[in-house]
Amino acid sequence: MKQTVILRCIDCGKEYEPSAIYRCSCNALLEVVLDTEKLKETVSRKLFDSRLWSRREPYHSGVWRFKELVHPLVSDEQIISRPEGNTNIYKHKKIREYTGIKDILLKHEGENPTGSFKDRGISPGISEANRLGMKVVACASTGNTSASLAAYASIGSMKSVVFVPEGKIAMGKLSQAIAYGARVLEVNGNFDDAMSLVQKSSNELGMYLLNSINPWRIEGQKSIIFELIQQFDWKPPDWIIVPAGNLGNTSAFGKALDEMKKLDLIEKIPRIAAIQAEGANPFYETWKNKRSELKSLKNPETIASAIKIGNPVSWKKALRAIKTTNGLVEQVSDQEIMDAKAIVDSSGIGCEPASAASVAGAKKLLEDGIIDRDEQIVCIITGNLLKDTDSTINYHLSNLKGIKPKYSNKPIVIESTIEAVKEAIGL
Ligand code: F0G
Repeated sequence: MKQTVILRCIDCGKEYEPSAIYRCSCNALLEVVLDTEKLKETVSRKLFDSRLWSRREPYHSGVWRFKELVHPLVSDEQIISRPEGNTNIYKHKKIREYTGIKDILLKHEGENPTGSFKDRGISPGISEANRLGMKVVACASTGNTSASLAAYASIGSMKSVVFVPEGKIAMGKLSQAIAYGARVLEVNGNFDDAMSLVQKSSNELGMYLLNSINPWRIEGQKSIIFELIQQFDWKPPDWIIVPAGNLGNTSAFGKALDEMKKLDLIEKIPRIAAIQAEGANPFYETWKNKRSELKSLKNPETIASAIKIGNPVSWKKALRAIKTTNGLVEQVSDQEIMDAKAIVDSSGIGCEPASAASVAGAKKLLEDGIIDRDEQIVCIITGNLLKDTDSTINYHLSNLKGIKPKYSNKPIVIESTIEAVKEAIGL
Protein backbone atom coordinates (compact mmCIF):
# COMPACT_ATOMS: atom_id res chain seq x y z
CA MET A 1 0.00 0.00 0.00
CA LYS A 2 1.31 3.42 -0.95
CA GLN A 3 -0.65 5.48 1.57
CA THR A 4 1.03 6.24 4.87
CA VAL A 5 -2.31 5.73 6.61
CA ILE A 6 -4.31 2.54 6.24
CA LEU A 7 -7.15 0.78 8.01
CA ARG A 8 -6.23 -2.69 9.21
CA CYS A 9 -8.26 -5.51 10.71
CA ILE A 10 -7.28 -6.17 14.32
CA ASP A 11 -7.86 -9.91 13.84
CA CYS A 12 -6.84 -11.07 10.36
CA GLY A 13 -4.66 -8.09 9.39
CA LYS A 14 -6.44 -7.39 6.09
CA GLU A 15 -5.78 -3.83 4.91
CA TYR A 16 -8.18 -1.25 3.48
CA GLU A 17 -7.93 2.25 2.04
CA PRO A 18 -9.67 4.67 4.43
CA SER A 19 -13.37 4.88 3.52
CA ALA A 20 -16.76 4.58 5.25
CA ILE A 21 -16.12 1.13 6.69
CA TYR A 22 -15.79 0.03 10.30
CA ARG A 23 -15.49 -3.74 10.15
CA CYS A 24 -13.37 -6.18 8.17
CA SER A 25 -14.94 -8.78 5.90
CA CYS A 26 -14.22 -11.18 8.80
CA ASN A 27 -16.38 -8.90 11.01
CA ALA A 28 -13.61 -7.79 13.39
CA LEU A 29 -12.98 -4.08 14.00
CA LEU A 30 -10.58 -2.00 11.93
CA GLU A 31 -7.95 0.33 13.24
CA VAL A 32 -5.97 3.18 11.77
CA VAL A 33 -2.33 2.27 11.25
CA LEU A 34 0.15 5.13 11.13
CA ASP A 35 3.59 4.77 9.59
CA THR A 36 5.54 5.48 12.77
CA GLU A 37 8.95 5.04 11.10
CA LYS A 38 8.12 7.78 8.62
CA LEU A 39 6.44 9.95 11.25
CA LYS A 40 9.65 9.90 13.29
CA GLU A 41 11.11 12.29 10.70
CA THR A 42 8.46 14.93 11.31
CA VAL A 43 6.98 14.69 14.79
CA SER A 44 8.78 15.50 18.01
CA ARG A 45 8.15 16.89 21.49
CA LYS A 46 9.50 20.19 20.15
CA LEU A 47 6.98 20.34 17.31
CA PHE A 48 4.03 19.77 19.64
CA ASP A 49 5.43 22.19 22.25
CA SER A 50 5.80 24.88 19.57
CA ARG A 51 2.04 24.67 18.98
CA LEU A 52 1.13 25.12 22.65
CA TRP A 53 -0.95 28.27 23.18
CA SER A 54 -1.11 28.72 19.42
CA ARG A 55 -4.06 30.74 18.21
CA ARG A 56 -3.73 29.24 14.78
CA GLU A 57 -6.40 26.88 13.55
CA PRO A 58 -6.46 23.94 13.87
CA TYR A 59 -3.50 23.72 16.28
CA HIS A 60 -5.22 25.65 19.06
CA SER A 61 -7.30 22.51 19.63
CA GLY A 62 -5.92 19.93 22.08
CA VAL A 63 -6.83 17.30 19.49
CA TRP A 64 -5.51 18.92 16.31
CA ARG A 65 -2.27 20.04 17.97
CA PHE A 66 -1.37 16.39 17.35
CA LYS A 67 -2.80 16.31 13.84
CA GLU A 68 -0.06 14.09 12.41
CA LEU A 69 -0.93 11.43 15.01
CA VAL A 70 -4.71 11.91 14.89
CA HIS A 71 -5.79 12.39 11.29
CA PRO A 72 -3.05 13.16 8.77
CA LEU A 73 -5.38 12.69 5.77
CA VAL A 74 -7.88 15.44 6.43
CA SER A 75 -7.15 18.95 5.13
CA ASP A 76 -7.37 22.02 7.37
CA GLU A 77 -10.50 23.11 5.47
CA GLN A 78 -12.22 19.79 6.12
CA ILE A 79 -11.64 19.90 9.88
CA ILE A 80 -14.69 20.49 12.09
CA SER A 81 -13.49 21.67 15.49
CA ARG A 82 -14.90 23.85 18.29
CA PRO A 83 -12.00 23.63 19.45
CA GLU A 84 -11.73 20.77 21.93
CA GLY A 85 -9.22 19.54 24.51
CA ASN A 86 -6.77 21.73 26.45
CA THR A 87 -8.39 20.41 29.61
CA ASN A 88 -6.96 21.08 33.05
CA ILE A 89 -5.36 18.83 35.63
CA TYR A 90 -6.39 19.24 39.26
CA LYS A 91 -5.23 18.10 42.68
CA HIS A 92 -6.99 18.50 46.00
CA LYS A 93 -6.21 17.61 49.61
CA LYS A 94 -9.64 16.02 49.98
CA ILE A 95 -9.00 13.60 47.11
CA ARG A 96 -5.54 12.78 48.48
CA GLU A 97 -7.04 12.02 51.89
CA TYR A 98 -9.97 10.06 50.48
CA THR A 99 -7.88 7.79 48.30
CA GLY A 100 -4.77 7.68 50.50
CA ILE A 101 -2.61 8.50 47.47
CA LYS A 102 -0.10 11.36 47.87
CA ASP A 103 0.23 12.30 44.23
CA ILE A 104 -3.20 11.86 42.69
CA LEU A 105 -4.32 14.17 39.89
CA LEU A 106 -7.54 14.49 37.94
CA LYS A 107 -7.58 15.40 34.24
CA HIS A 108 -10.98 16.93 33.61
CA GLU A 109 -12.34 15.91 30.22
CA GLY A 110 -15.69 17.38 31.26
CA GLU A 111 -14.14 20.71 30.24
CA ASN A 112 -14.55 19.86 26.56
CA PRO A 113 -17.05 21.95 24.55
CA THR A 114 -20.07 19.69 25.10
CA GLY A 115 -18.99 18.59 28.57
CA SER A 116 -17.36 15.21 27.95
CA PHE A 117 -14.29 13.58 26.38
CA LYS A 118 -16.43 12.53 23.42
CA ASP A 119 -15.67 15.78 21.58
CA ARG A 120 -12.09 14.61 21.14
CA GLY A 121 -13.16 11.63 19.06
CA ILE A 122 -16.16 13.20 17.38
CA SER A 123 -14.07 16.04 15.92
CA PRO A 124 -11.79 13.84 13.78
CA GLY A 125 -14.65 11.41 13.14
CA ILE A 126 -16.93 14.07 11.73
CA SER A 127 -14.06 15.66 9.85
CA GLU A 128 -13.59 12.29 8.17
CA ALA A 129 -17.32 12.27 7.33
CA ASN A 130 -16.72 15.66 5.72
CA ARG A 131 -13.69 14.36 3.80
CA LEU A 132 -15.76 11.44 2.51
CA GLY A 133 -18.66 13.73 1.54
CA MET A 134 -21.13 12.07 3.94
CA LYS A 135 -24.24 14.11 4.70
CA VAL A 136 -25.84 12.18 7.58
CA VAL A 137 -24.05 10.98 10.70
CA ALA A 138 -25.38 8.60 13.36
CA CYS A 139 -24.58 7.03 16.71
CA ALA A 140 -26.07 5.02 19.55
CA SER A 141 -25.40 6.52 22.93
CA THR A 142 -25.76 6.46 26.68
CA GLY A 143 -25.94 10.23 26.26
CA ASN A 144 -22.59 11.95 25.87
CA THR A 145 -21.77 10.75 22.38
CA SER A 146 -25.20 11.87 21.21
CA ALA A 147 -24.72 15.34 22.74
CA SER A 148 -21.34 15.70 21.10
CA LEU A 149 -22.37 14.34 17.72
CA ALA A 150 -25.45 16.58 17.64
CA ALA A 151 -23.32 19.67 18.26
CA TYR A 152 -20.54 18.85 15.81
CA ALA A 153 -22.98 17.83 13.07
CA SER A 154 -24.70 21.20 13.38
CA ILE A 155 -21.37 23.04 13.30
CA GLY A 156 -20.55 21.18 10.08
CA SER A 157 -24.09 21.67 8.66
CA MET A 158 -24.72 17.93 8.59
CA LYS A 159 -27.73 15.98 9.71
CA SER A 160 -27.40 13.80 12.81
CA VAL A 161 -29.47 10.86 13.98
CA VAL A 162 -28.93 9.61 17.51
CA PHE A 163 -30.23 6.34 18.95
CA VAL A 164 -30.66 6.41 22.74
CA PRO A 165 -32.17 3.85 25.12
CA GLU A 166 -35.60 5.20 26.00
CA GLY A 167 -35.80 6.69 29.49
CA LYS A 168 -32.27 5.57 30.38
CA ILE A 169 -30.06 8.55 29.67
CA ALA A 170 -29.42 11.56 31.89
CA MET A 171 -31.55 14.63 31.16
CA GLY A 172 -28.61 16.99 30.66
CA LYS A 173 -27.40 14.82 27.78
CA LEU A 174 -30.82 14.30 26.22
CA SER A 175 -31.52 18.02 26.35
CA GLN A 176 -28.21 18.72 24.58
CA ALA A 177 -28.99 16.29 21.75
CA ILE A 178 -32.43 17.81 21.26
CA ALA A 179 -31.22 21.39 21.52
CA TYR A 180 -28.30 20.97 19.14
CA GLY A 181 -30.76 19.72 16.55
CA ALA A 182 -30.24 15.95 16.23
CA ARG A 183 -33.07 13.67 15.18
CA VAL A 184 -33.40 11.82 18.49
CA LEU A 185 -34.66 8.23 18.29
CA GLU A 186 -35.54 6.74 21.66
CA VAL A 187 -35.16 3.00 21.28
CA ASN A 188 -37.28 0.64 23.28
CA GLY A 189 -34.44 -1.34 24.89
CA ASN A 190 -31.01 -0.70 26.44
CA PHE A 191 -27.83 0.81 25.00
CA ASP A 192 -26.72 -2.52 23.50
CA ASP A 193 -30.02 -2.76 21.59
CA ALA A 194 -29.59 0.80 20.32
CA MET A 195 -26.01 -0.02 19.30
CA SER A 196 -27.08 -3.03 17.32
CA LEU A 197 -29.88 -1.08 15.60
CA VAL A 198 -27.64 1.84 14.64
CA GLN A 199 -25.09 -0.50 13.04
CA LYS A 200 -27.75 -2.11 10.87
CA SER A 201 -29.40 1.23 10.04
CA SER A 202 -26.14 2.94 9.10
CA ASN A 203 -25.21 0.16 6.71
CA GLU A 204 -28.62 0.09 5.05
CA LEU A 205 -29.39 3.80 5.01
CA GLY A 206 -25.96 5.20 4.16
CA MET A 207 -25.44 7.10 7.41
CA TYR A 208 -21.87 7.57 8.63
CA LEU A 209 -21.52 5.76 11.95
CA LEU A 210 -19.70 7.66 14.66
CA ASN A 211 -19.61 5.30 17.60
CA SER A 212 -16.18 4.23 18.79
CA ILE A 213 -16.27 1.25 16.42
CA ASN A 214 -15.35 4.02 13.96
CA PRO A 215 -11.53 3.94 14.02
CA TRP A 216 -11.22 7.76 13.74
CA ARG A 217 -13.00 8.14 17.08
CA ILE A 218 -10.20 6.17 18.70
CA GLU A 219 -7.60 8.31 16.91
CA GLY A 220 -9.11 11.47 18.40
CA GLN A 221 -9.39 10.06 21.92
CA LYS A 222 -5.67 9.26 21.85
CA SER A 223 -5.14 12.99 22.29
CA ILE A 224 -6.21 12.74 25.96
CA ILE A 225 -2.97 10.83 26.51
CA PHE A 226 -0.81 12.99 24.20
CA GLU A 227 -2.01 16.13 25.94
CA LEU A 228 -1.75 14.69 29.44
CA ILE A 229 1.84 13.58 28.93
CA GLN A 230 2.75 16.88 27.30
CA GLN A 231 1.31 18.63 30.39
CA PHE A 232 3.75 16.51 32.42
CA ASP A 233 6.71 17.69 30.30
CA TRP A 234 6.69 14.32 28.54
CA LYS A 235 7.28 12.36 31.75
CA PRO A 236 4.37 9.92 32.09
CA PRO A 237 2.79 9.18 35.48
CA ASP A 238 2.92 5.65 36.91
CA TRP A 239 -0.78 4.91 36.38
CA ILE A 240 -3.62 6.27 34.29
CA ILE A 241 -7.03 5.28 35.63
CA VAL A 242 -10.07 5.45 33.37
CA PRO A 243 -13.78 4.59 33.67
CA ALA A 244 -14.67 1.82 31.22
CA GLY A 245 -17.94 1.24 29.39
CA ASN A 246 -17.91 0.68 25.66
CA LEU A 247 -14.09 0.62 25.95
CA GLY A 248 -13.20 3.23 23.33
CA ASN A 249 -11.03 5.20 25.75
CA THR A 250 -9.19 2.17 27.10
CA SER A 251 -8.42 1.14 23.51
CA ALA A 252 -7.35 4.66 22.53
CA PHE A 253 -5.08 5.03 25.56
CA GLY A 254 -3.21 1.81 24.79
CA LYS A 255 -2.76 2.79 21.14
CA ALA A 256 -1.57 6.28 22.06
CA LEU A 257 1.03 4.99 24.51
CA ASP A 258 2.29 2.36 22.09
CA GLU A 259 2.71 4.98 19.35
CA MET A 260 4.36 7.49 21.69
CA LYS A 261 6.92 4.89 22.70
CA LYS A 262 7.61 3.96 19.06
CA LEU A 263 8.03 7.64 18.21
CA ASP A 264 10.42 8.21 21.15
CA LEU A 265 8.03 10.76 22.65
CA ILE A 266 8.13 8.85 25.96
CA GLU A 267 10.65 6.59 27.61
CA LYS A 268 8.32 4.47 29.70
CA ILE A 269 4.74 3.28 29.33
CA PRO A 270 2.45 4.02 32.28
CA ARG A 271 0.04 1.31 33.43
CA ILE A 272 -3.64 1.62 32.54
CA ALA A 273 -6.34 0.64 35.01
CA ALA A 274 -9.81 0.38 33.44
CA ILE A 275 -12.61 0.62 35.99
CA GLN A 276 -16.07 -0.82 35.41
CA ALA A 277 -19.26 -0.56 37.46
CA GLU A 278 -19.99 -3.83 39.29
CA GLY A 279 -23.40 -4.20 37.61
CA ALA A 280 -22.00 -3.59 34.12
CA ASN A 281 -18.72 -5.49 34.28
CA PRO A 282 -18.33 -7.87 31.29
CA PHE A 283 -14.80 -6.62 30.55
CA TYR A 284 -13.75 -7.07 34.17
CA GLU A 285 -15.08 -10.64 34.13
CA THR A 286 -13.23 -11.40 30.90
CA TRP A 287 -9.96 -10.01 32.22
CA LYS A 288 -10.21 -11.55 35.69
CA ASN A 289 -11.03 -14.99 34.35
CA LYS A 290 -8.41 -14.75 31.58
CA ARG A 291 -11.06 -15.47 28.96
CA SER A 292 -10.30 -14.94 25.30
CA GLU A 293 -13.95 -14.11 24.50
CA LEU A 294 -16.30 -11.57 26.02
CA LYS A 295 -19.38 -12.91 27.73
CA SER A 296 -21.88 -10.11 27.28
CA LEU A 297 -24.31 -9.10 30.01
CA LYS A 298 -28.00 -9.00 29.10
CA ASN A 299 -29.23 -6.59 31.74
CA PRO A 300 -26.45 -4.28 32.90
CA GLU A 301 -27.40 -2.14 35.91
CA THR A 302 -25.64 0.85 37.46
CA ILE A 303 -26.40 4.38 38.62
CA ALA A 304 -23.58 5.46 36.28
CA SER A 305 -25.81 5.41 33.19
CA ALA A 306 -22.94 6.45 30.88
CA ILE A 307 -21.26 3.07 31.44
CA LYS A 308 -24.38 0.92 31.70
CA ILE A 309 -23.23 -1.33 28.85
CA GLY A 310 -23.36 -5.13 28.64
CA ASN A 311 -21.76 -5.75 25.27
CA PRO A 312 -18.85 -3.32 24.76
CA VAL A 313 -17.89 -3.16 21.09
CA SER A 314 -14.19 -2.36 21.56
CA TRP A 315 -13.36 -5.07 24.10
CA LYS A 316 -10.72 -6.75 21.93
CA LYS A 317 -8.80 -3.55 21.31
CA ALA A 318 -9.13 -2.72 25.00
CA LEU A 319 -7.80 -6.10 26.09
CA ARG A 320 -4.75 -5.55 23.91
CA ALA A 321 -4.32 -2.10 25.51
CA ILE A 322 -4.40 -3.60 29.00
CA LYS A 323 -1.82 -6.19 27.97
CA THR A 324 0.57 -3.77 26.23
CA THR A 325 0.55 -1.39 29.20
CA ASN A 326 0.83 -4.13 31.84
CA GLY A 327 -2.47 -2.76 33.06
CA LEU A 328 -5.48 -4.21 34.81
CA VAL A 329 -9.25 -4.08 35.08
CA GLU A 330 -11.13 -3.44 38.33
CA GLN A 331 -14.75 -2.99 39.30
CA VAL A 332 -16.42 -0.69 41.83
CA SER A 333 -19.90 -0.64 43.36
CA ASP A 334 -22.47 2.12 42.87
CA GLN A 335 -21.95 3.06 46.52
CA GLU A 336 -18.21 3.52 45.89
CA ILE A 337 -18.93 5.49 42.70
CA MET A 338 -21.38 7.88 44.35
CA ASP A 339 -19.21 8.44 47.43
CA ALA A 340 -16.19 9.15 45.23
CA LYS A 341 -18.33 11.52 43.17
CA ALA A 342 -19.39 13.37 46.34
CA ILE A 343 -15.70 13.85 47.20
CA VAL A 344 -14.77 15.06 43.70
CA ASP A 345 -17.82 17.36 43.69
CA SER A 346 -17.18 18.83 47.13
CA SER A 347 -13.56 19.50 46.13
CA GLY A 348 -15.01 22.05 43.73
CA ILE A 349 -14.01 19.96 40.70
CA GLY A 350 -17.22 18.02 40.05
CA CYS A 351 -18.10 15.18 37.70
CA GLU A 352 -20.87 12.89 36.54
CA PRO A 353 -21.21 9.44 38.18
CA ALA A 354 -19.32 7.36 35.57
CA SER A 355 -16.31 9.66 35.88
CA ALA A 356 -16.02 9.04 39.59
CA ALA A 357 -15.40 5.34 38.90
CA SER A 358 -11.77 6.28 38.22
CA VAL A 359 -11.32 7.87 41.66
CA ALA A 360 -13.21 5.03 43.38
CA GLY A 361 -10.96 2.62 41.46
CA ALA A 362 -7.79 4.43 42.58
CA LYS A 363 -8.87 4.14 46.22
CA LYS A 364 -9.63 0.44 45.85
CA LEU A 365 -6.36 -0.33 44.07
CA LEU A 366 -4.39 1.34 46.85
CA GLU A 367 -6.36 -0.53 49.53
CA ASP A 368 -5.67 -3.79 47.72
CA GLY A 369 -1.94 -3.01 47.65
CA ILE A 370 -1.83 -2.93 43.85
CA ILE A 371 -0.80 0.68 43.54
CA ASP A 372 1.68 2.23 45.90
CA ARG A 373 0.91 5.37 47.90
CA ASP A 374 4.06 7.00 46.50
CA GLU A 375 3.21 6.38 42.87
CA GLN A 376 1.90 9.13 40.65
CA ILE A 377 -1.69 8.49 39.59
CA VAL A 378 -3.82 10.35 37.06
CA CYS A 379 -7.56 9.70 37.07
CA ILE A 380 -9.49 10.68 33.97
CA ILE A 381 -12.68 12.58 34.73
CA THR A 382 -14.80 11.88 31.68
CA GLY A 383 -17.89 14.08 32.07
CA ASN A 384 -19.18 17.29 33.60
CA LEU A 385 -21.16 17.47 36.86
CA LEU A 386 -24.13 19.13 35.15
CA LYS A 387 -24.72 16.22 32.79
CA ASP A 388 -26.65 14.23 35.39
CA THR A 389 -28.15 16.48 38.05
CA ASP A 390 -30.74 13.89 39.13
CA SER A 391 -28.15 11.47 40.44
CA THR A 392 -26.44 14.24 42.44
CA ILE A 393 -29.64 15.51 44.04
CA ASN A 394 -31.01 12.05 44.71
CA TYR A 395 -27.75 11.05 46.44
CA HIS A 396 -27.81 14.05 48.74
CA LEU A 397 -31.53 13.58 49.49
CA SER A 398 -31.03 9.84 50.24
CA ASN A 399 -33.32 8.91 47.35
CA LEU A 400 -31.09 6.30 45.71
CA LYS A 401 -32.14 2.72 46.34
CA GLY A 402 -29.37 0.68 47.94
CA ILE A 403 -27.03 3.67 48.40
CA LYS A 404 -26.28 5.32 51.76
CA PRO A 405 -25.08 8.88 51.16
CA LYS A 406 -22.00 9.06 53.42
CA TYR A 407 -21.23 12.59 52.32
CA SER A 408 -24.76 13.97 52.09
CA ASN A 409 -25.17 17.75 51.89
CA LYS A 410 -28.91 18.10 52.14
CA PRO A 411 -30.48 21.51 51.60
CA ILE A 412 -32.34 22.86 54.63
CA VAL A 413 -35.82 24.33 54.33
CA ILE A 414 -36.23 27.35 56.63
CA GLU A 415 -38.68 30.06 57.61
CA SER A 416 -37.76 33.48 56.38
CA THR A 417 -36.27 34.75 59.66
CA ILE A 418 -32.76 35.54 60.89
CA GLU A 419 -33.23 33.11 63.79
CA ALA A 420 -33.92 30.30 61.36
CA VAL A 421 -30.77 31.18 59.38
CA LYS A 422 -28.71 31.23 62.58
CA GLU A 423 -30.01 27.88 63.65
CA ALA A 424 -29.49 26.32 60.23
CA ILE A 425 -25.87 27.39 59.86
CA GLY A 426 -24.98 26.80 63.51
CA LEU A 427 -23.86 30.32 64.42
N1 F0G B 1 -17.56 8.20 31.10
C1 F0G B 1 -18.53 8.87 30.46
C2 F0G B 1 -18.99 10.15 31.05
C3 F0G B 1 -19.09 8.34 29.27
O1 F0G B 1 -20.05 9.02 28.65
C4 F0G B 1 -18.63 7.11 28.78
C5 F0G B 1 -19.20 6.52 27.58
C6 F0G B 1 -17.61 6.46 29.48
C7 F0G B 1 -17.09 7.02 30.65
C8 F0G B 1 -17.05 5.16 29.03
O2 F0G B 1 -16.15 5.35 28.00
O3 F0G B 1 -17.11 3.83 26.32
O4 F0G B 1 -14.83 4.75 26.07
O5 F0G B 1 -15.31 3.04 27.79
N2 F0G B 1 -20.22 6.94 26.99
C9 F0G B 1 -20.72 6.47 25.71
C10 F0G B 1 -21.82 7.36 25.19
C11 F0G B 1 -20.97 5.04 25.62
O6 F0G B 1 -22.66 6.89 24.40
O7 F0G B 1 -21.84 8.54 25.51
P1 F0G B 1 -15.83 4.17 26.97
